[in-house]
Formats: sequence, C-alpha cells, structure tokens
Amino acid sequence: MALERSLILVKPDGVERRLVGTIIGRIEAKGLSLVGLKMLQITAELSRQHYAEHVEKPFYPELEAFITSGPVVAMVVEGPEAISVMRTLMGKTNARESAPGTIRGDFGASRQMNLIHGSDSPESAAREQQIYFTESELVSAPALLSPVMWAADEAN
Ligand code: RTP
Ligand code: MG
Repeated sequence: MALERSLILVKPDGVERRLVGTIIGRIEAKGLSLVGLKMLQITAELSRQHYAEHVEKPFYPELEAFITSGPVVAMVVEGPEAISVMRTLMGKTNARESAPGTIRGDFGASRQMNLIHGSDSPESAAREQQIYFTESELVSAPALLSPVMWAADEAN
C-alpha cells in the first residue's frame, strides 16, 4: 500500500453551482489531506495539455468548451492509495450511472458536466500535478492525526 498524491479539479459546473465546499468537505471527511490548492481559469492550450489523451476524440471540442467555460479549483490530495480512493469517491464518468453516495452520483446527471476530475493512474497523477503546481506550491500533509487514521504500513 502506498501513500499517493492525486490531482483533482472541481470543474466549472461545480464552481458555478457553489459545490466547492461540499466537494472539498467529502475529500477531507474521507481522511485525505489537501497539500495543494488554487483557483484558475483553464485556457484552450491548458485543456489540450491536460486532456491530451482525448484531443483527437469526437467529444473533445465540447469538452474543451466546457472545461474552459469558467474557473476551476485545482487540488493535490494525499493519502493511502489516494488515486483509486478519489476515483471511488468521485463515481463513474457518466454521472447518471454513478452510484449514490459518490460525488458525481449525488450531485450530477451528466456525462460531461460531471463536477470533478481525478487522476486515473500514478503516471497521470505525476504528469497532471506538474501541469498545475510547482513543487514550492505543495506542502507536507499535516501528520498529527495519522496514527489514528491508518496503520503505519498503509501509508508507506
Ligand atoms: P476526468 O478525466 O475528467 O476525471 O473524467 P474521467 O476520467 O472519469 O473520464 P474520461 O474518459 O477521462 O473523460 C474526460 C472527460 O470528458 C468528458 N467526456 N465526454 N461525450 C463523451 O462521450 C464524453 N466522454 C467523456 C467528461 O467530462 C469526462 O469527465
Ligand atoms: Mg480521465
């Protein structure tokens, strides 16, 4: 088991709908730590960089229009297996199919306007963190409560 960092975005629909606090609250309630946080406006160029794997897909123009349509909140969250934990917390891509209890399942009803992005692998997480954050913008996770949150071998 590994301590991981995942790059998370609250997408423009989440910001517009004033769900930033609710979404961050769920991440914190799960026990993950915020180690980076900022607001920004994604440009077309940044969108092509972030969604490089989708640029040639038919849905890309709509995706770019959506993700550049308003400010986003970018975060790096840390915890044991944070990448897969976040994907579970988020729910399936199509919010109509996401389970209740997940962020997308509870607050969304769209495949595109699905509120939140989360890295899908350690490689993506490393690549995406570099897109949004410099090393000096990231902090160490607060550690006092770690011993009551998970066993030492879960967070190596
Ligand atoms: P994300 O990258 O934003 O965390 O979402 P994801 O992994 O769950 O889904 P992904 O397949 O990477 O798709 C990226 C985003 O593109 C939009 N999308 N539209 N019209 C379509 O068929 C379609 N498929 C995906 C969604 O906003 C999705 O989150
Ligand atoms: Mg994805």
